[in-house]
This record gives sequence, structure tokens and C-alpha cells, in this order.
Amino acid sequence: IEDLTPLYETTDFPVGVAIDSRETIGAPAQLLTRHFNQITAENHMKPEAWYDEAGNFRPHEQALTMMDFARDNDLRVYGHVLVWHSQTPAWFFTDSAGQPLTTSAADQQVLRDRLRTHIFNVAESMSERYGPFGSPTNPLYAFDAVNEVVSDSGEYSDGLRRSEWYRILGESFIDLTFEYADEAFNDVYAAEGADRPVTLFINDYNTEQSGKQARYLALVQRLLARGVPVHGVGHQFHVSLAMPVSALETALETFADLPVTQAVTELDVTTGTPATQAKFIDQGYYYRDAFRIFRAYADDLLAVTVWGLTDGRSWRSGNGGPLLFDDNLRAKPAYHGAVDGE
Ligand code: XIL
Repeated sequence: IEDLTPLYETTDFPVGVAIDSRETIGAPAQLLTRHFNQITAENHMKPEAWYDEAGNFRPHEQALTMMDFARDNDLRVYGHVLVWHSQTPAWFFTDSAGQPLTTSAADQQVLRDRLRTHIFNVAESMSERYGPFGSPTNPLYAFDAVNEVVSDSGEYSDGLRRSEWYRILGESFIDLTFEYADEAFNDVYAAEGADRPVTLFINDYNTEQSGKQARYLALVQRLLARGVPVHGVGHQFHVSLAMPVSALETALETFADLPVTQAVTELDVTTGTPATQAKFIDQGYYYRDAFRIFRAYADDLLAVTVWGLTDGRSWRSGNGGPLLFDDNLRAKPAYHGAVDGE
């Protein structure tokens, strides 16, 4: 591992990275703990990950490995994600005969019960093993409650994605998710006296683009006006070099006056292919400018997370290496830029 300035020491907010258990051992783990003080499970805390083949609830082995690793290395854990339209077992939305749930009052109640049970099982299983939320042995301090609920299109007046959650419960599934999660994480399974130990986020992508941003803002304002316990607004920021970095600043500024914190939850910057050295240098300037903006918004940001440790492990690796470190665990210009924005 190169002897470089730890990235997280150059910011006033935690810097996280999305991983699975492969990054909890050997040289990747050394690189991780040098530069990051927070982790997110890239896949293993998603709805489907909590169930075995038979549909029985149990934490995924890899989720536990990551939680253990975080606890043992003083890293925070940013949870991802309680409710999403993707990577969710199909049985959530069907009845015992395998038929799709309808919008009847009875079917809606079935789905509400499943939602509540899911959230309470997550909170209970994590607090049983790691202690109540807000206690020193439990590193979980934030969770994406709902992910990607905003529509990509402007065609709906409520601006919401037409998912199975939405089809059956309408917008109320968002309110319910936050209410159940706040009850479970911040009350029932919270340490005594702990003041809201788990910050609950809404999270979405393309929030740096104007149409999506306006729909996102309108939704968050509605939720807050209804008293829904949404504590944070997440920006995935899966961008490319073609996206002006000023758009990231506009996104943060748009939510800055609301009574919420914010987070950059899944940052990566594709170069396009072939990923030449010249493009990696441009990418270095991009990360420099992006981290300058994040530092300027430090008071509004709970954390900044990059979506993967090394280029080859990125879900977007087909579009050119989007991350801070290469496959030999060496710092790219992107790392130097991120640190240089200090
Ligand atoms: C991605 C993971 O990186 C992939 O490994 C997986 O196959 C699909 O999901 N928005 C999100 C993340 O909120 O959960 C997604 O993660 C990337 C887009």
C-alpha cells in the first residue's frame, strides 16, 4: 500500500466506500482502512440479501463480515437500502397463491405488514448482534430508507416512479418506510438516551439533473410538510466527465435550506472508453473540483461515499475506470485530485 495521505483526514466529513467481504481482508482492507472511515454494503443489505431461498429472514453472511470489520476497525456503516424497486424478492408483492397483490384494503395491509416486519427484522438482527443503535459496538449510523422512488420522466404529477410499492400503496409507502424505520432504529432498538442514532435517508440518482432534481425537491418538501421523519437527502452522483461539476454544487445548494442533512452516497466518474492516461488526468481534476465543493458544503454533508474501491470492482467499469484506485491498488490522479481539493 502506498504511503499516501489518508483521504478521510483531508475532509471534515466521513469518507465511505461501497464494498463486499472481499475488501475486508488482505491488501484491499489495508487500502480501505488507510483512506476511508466508513463503508456501505454494495449489495448485501439490499432487500433480497436478508432472505434465504425459502424466504426466511436472516442477515447475509457478508453483511455480518462487513459489520464485524467496521466494528473492529472503527469504521462507520452507512446502510443501503431498506426499500427499493430493484433487488427485492418478488414474493413481497404477491399473495399466497402467487397472484399480484391488488389495491384492496386487505392486500394493502399485507404489504404494509411485510414492510414493517422487514424493517423491524433488519433493526432487531443488527442490534442483537452489535448492541443497540447508538452504542459504541454498533457501527450502523445511517440508512437509505428508500432508494430511487423519483420518476425519470416528468409525465406524472406526483413525480414518483411507478414501482410495485407505488402501485399497491401509492406515495404512502414512502411515509410508512420512514415511520417504521424511525421507530425501529431510533426508538425500539436504540440505546437508552441515544438521540436519533440512525440518520434516515431518501436517496436517488440524476439529482444533479434539473428535471429529476425538481421532482426530488418537491417530494422531500411534501414529506417534511407531512412530518415524515426523513433526516437526510442522498445524491448518488453516478456521473461522467461530460457532467459539469457545477451541477453537483447546484444539487447540494438546492436542498441546503431544508431541515435535513445531505450525503453523496455513490460517487463515481466514468471516463468513457478507451480510458487513456489523458482522461484519467481530466478525471483527477474532476475529483479535485468535486471534493472542493463537498468541503465547501461540509456543514450540510453527513458523509461522502465512492461506489467501489478499485476500478475493476466498479459496476460501471465498462465505461472506463470511474474510481480513485486502480486494480493494483495504486492511487490514480483521481485520488490525488480528491486530496488536492483540500
Ligand atoms: C449496484 C451494484 O453496484 C451492483 O453490484 C449490482 O449488481 C446492482 O446494483 N444505485 C444504487 C446501487 O442504489 O444499489 C446500485 O448498486 C447502483 C445504482
